[in-house]
Amino acid sequence: MATFQTLPGFRDFYPEDLAKRTHIFRLWRQTAAAFGFAEYDTPVLEPLDLYRAKSGDEIEGQLFGFTDKGGREVALRPEMTPSVCRLVGARANALKRPIKWFSIAEFYRYERMQKGRGRCFYQLNADVFGEPGPEAEIELIALLVQCMRAFGLTDKDFCVRLSDRMLWFQFLGSLGLDEPRIRSLLAAVDKHERSGDDAFKGYEESFGKIDDELKRRVLGFLGIRSFGALEQALGEPGVSAAVSGRLADWRKLLDGLGAMGLGDYIQVDLGVVRGLAYYTGFVFEAFDRKGELRALAGGGRYDDLVGRLGGPELPAVGFAVGDMTFALLLEERGLSPVVSQAPDVYCILGGEAERKAAFADINRLRAAGFRVDYPMRDLGFGKQFKAAADSGAKIALIYGGDELAKGIVKMRDLVDRTERDFPASGVEAAVRGFFEGG
Ligand code: HAM
Repeated sequence: MATFQTLPGFRDFYPEDLAKRTHIFRLWRQTAAAFGFAEYDTPVLEPLDLYRAKSGDEIEGQLFGFTDKGGREVALRPEMTPSVCRLVGARANALKRPIKWFSIAEFYRYERMQKGRGRCFYQLNADVFGEPGPEAEIELIALLVQCMRAFGLTDKDFCVRLSDRMLWFQFLGSLGLDEPRIRSLLAAVDKHERSGDDAFKGYEESFGKIDDELKRRVLGFLGIRSFGALEQALGEPGVSAAVSGRLADWRKLLDGLGAMGLGDYIQVDLGVVRGLAYYTGFVFEAFDRKGELRALAGGGRYDDLVGRLGGPELPAVGFAVGDMTFALLLEERGLSPVVSQAPDVYCILGGEAERKAAFADINRLRAAGFRVDYPMRDLGFGKQFKAAADSGAKIALIYGGDELAKGIVKMRDLVDRTERDFPASGVEAAVRGFFEGG
């Protein structure tokens, strides 16, 4: 008989895996709520046109797209940004600004398989709409950092690399390049860290061999690793004076992040330009400090996407952190959550009559929020005590024939092995006393 496996790049979540994922999502959710973000969701399947010519060539080539039974071209969502722009765009006038929204959802990209990258993965997306200044970036970068710190990760474990596509556009524009050339060069910069000078191949195929001086300037700019160096580079002859106006925004952003106490997490790095085509301003990516893993998170400003998707002009900035690289980093640092699925209480049952007597208590305790388990089949006491110990429960409630006859229940502390009897009518109070009274 044929055996079926998950498709390449797709994952099953056994209970212990799902418990870890749920724990990560719970902390992300709490953190986003603490920052005043409201949660939303969107459909998994979207019109393919939502992504065409918006997300960029790379994502477009990775779409899980098909024609549905109604002849519509559709795609499994590869990212959240175009969808959330639709939602916000449709109600832009009614929504209170700034609009701070987040979601935790699954995405699909037909990617080459590699460590930390799959074809289905989860992301926490957080976005701020309606705020044109770097205050929105401050809020989002602070949220991104806190989403990692909530698990015990520190500035020794990861950093946020900060760059600016607007400055790149202005810089390359001031060198006399037109928009198609600029976009092609930015794609090369995006690939340069992984591919070296091969990254310029795409540019050269479209526009001929790259001029040595241009290449020198591009490599010089992408090598900038501090604000001081950035200021200096913009002072070089040949760069338009208008460009320097952008530095005031940089100062505001860096000062704000410093005031939040996040300076040690931030690394100015003009080598980051992001692969997605819609970014218009500051861009950032989070990486592990050792540089061993793929990006943990990425984001930036995309001020014209809401408008391009049919909504009003609305400034926007956001990021997404993925679950896969993040879980790898937690594991590597020994910070992977240990999630207990043990019951609080395990009931040990003498026989049919005792089982019935226990059921009312079991139901009542469960309704009161305690995790309660019991053997589904009649088993000897020895096997039941072993099952109770194996379950990881803190206490066992023993419903034996003697206890039933005397109208009592025995409670056994499975850690220190002490036992105590109490009236059958007082089970809930006794269990409460154990867990709440210490
Ligand atoms: P992105 O850089 O494509 O940005 O993805 C963000 C994060 O999602 C990555 O840093 C990575 O952790 C995770 N990720 C992406 N692709 C995969 C994959 N194939 N397997 C596993 N994890 C993956 C965006 O998606 C933007 N929409 C983020 C954004 C929100 N920009 C503004 N708002």
